[in-house]
Amino acid sequence: MKVFIVGSGGREHAIAWKVAQSPKVDKIYCAPGNAGISEFAECVPIGAMEFERLAAFAKEQAIDLTVIGMDDPLVGGIVDVFEREGLKVFGPRKNAAILEGSKAFSKDLMKKYHIPTAAYETFCRAEDALAYLETADMPIVLKADGLALGKGVLICKTLEEARAGVKELMEDKKFGSAGDQIVIEEFMTGREVSVLSFVDGKTIKIMTSAQDHKRAGDGDTGLNTGGMGTFSPSPFYTEEIDRFCREHIYQATVDAMAAEGREFKGIIFFGLMLTEKGPRVLEYNARFGDPETQVVLPRMENDIVEVFEACVDGTLDQVELRFADNAAVCVVLASDGYPVSYKKGFPISGLDGFSGKDGYYVFHAGTKFAEDGKTFLTNGGRVLGVTALGKDLKEARENAYQATEWVSFGNKYMRHDIGKAIDEAG
Ligand code: AMP
Ligand code: GLY
Repeated sequence: MKVFIVGSGGREHAIAWKVAQSPKVDKIYCAPGNAGISEFAECVPIGAMEFERLAAFAKEQAIDLTVIGMDDPLVGGIVDVFEREGLKVFGPRKNAAILEGSKAFSKDLMKKYHIPTAAYETFCRAEDALAYLETADMPIVLKADGLALGKGVLICKTLEEARAGVKELMEDKKFGSAGDQIVIEEFMTGREVSVLSFVDGKTIKIMTSAQDHKRAGDGDTGLNTGGMGTFSPSPFYTEEIDRFCREHIYQATVDAMAAEGREFKGIIFFGLMLTEKGPRVLEYNARFGDPETQVVLPRMENDIVEVFEACVDGTLDQVELRFADNAAVCVVLASDGYPVSYKKGFPISGLDGFSGKDGYYVFHAGTKFAEDGKTFLTNGGRVLGVTALGKDLKEARENAYQATEWVSFGNKYMRHDIGKAIDEAG
């Protein structure tokens, strides 16, 4: 079988690695890919938003299955283009990817179908949002409706901050048209957990849990990033919480989308907040998480290509997902200065330290080859994700931090407290 992956980050590297394990697969392509991904896949220089070119490539190469990793193409309707061309593709259509693409849509869906989430209001006019703030309790959360690279969420402690936030999103258009509409929602406190799932339109199968670290600095300080590290499973995601979510959130979301005529096939990523009153949905994503994928897939025992196919074919009820009884930690090695400004183009050394070592992985996010076609260079804010397995979270964390020392490059930066919360869980 020939598999084509669309995307270029650490998530897509992890997907390509996992697809490469499948005995069904003889050839993998990835567009646009990155230097690390080229170990498993032939990288094709077509951008992730060039739907027609991507579909034409898939037809030319007689690709059997295309997997879309990223949110932008999904929300933009890449799956509809592939299906129109008669190509088999894993991911939600445009009318279902709206679950991630519009926060107003997802909040209204949760309200209509009684799926637990924070109380909220939506606004299309800044003056209405400002008037609402006058009577609201602080802190409060402002969210741009559309995609904003995970940065369109503002947590405002005071009324002044909230007023400035409305101006930033709706008047200054800091995130462009993503801020044409905003959601203002109740501030919640608790532990955050990421739960990924496979969905075939009717059936949902839950993967193991994970937790991300979004802030740039140790102790959750500094700016929000794409994610500085993850661990899996989350010790805070107990059986009781899992039972509650299965009863009130997971299947309810899939059924709600079907009832709306927006059958969802692909990945639903549930961003949950474990509040004192029980689990609440913070957000939905319509794709694998990055860097959650880098800790979840190394623990998955199934042939992922079989699971992808079952989702597309609507036979997921016949699949049993299996995860190893172990743990994984991923530490992101970034360029110092990320997420604001940073230098790139530094040579990376020590990557060969991973070869042949079971339970250690290095997933490339922002790397490229130097002109010699061999040397890896840094080429982004997040450069690498170093994942290690262990029998438990503590061992996985020790292993992952040890492996971060094998790699060096100019301006290497990482957090030193990924998985620190594990200690609190006892
Ligand atoms: P989102 O993109 O909706 O997941 O929001 C990004 C981050 O903002 C989340 O991971 C939370 O840390 C935080 N956040 C979002 N909504 C809320 C909320 N209602 N209360 C507290 N924190 C929130
Ligand atoms: N790690 C969070 C995300 O992928 O959105």
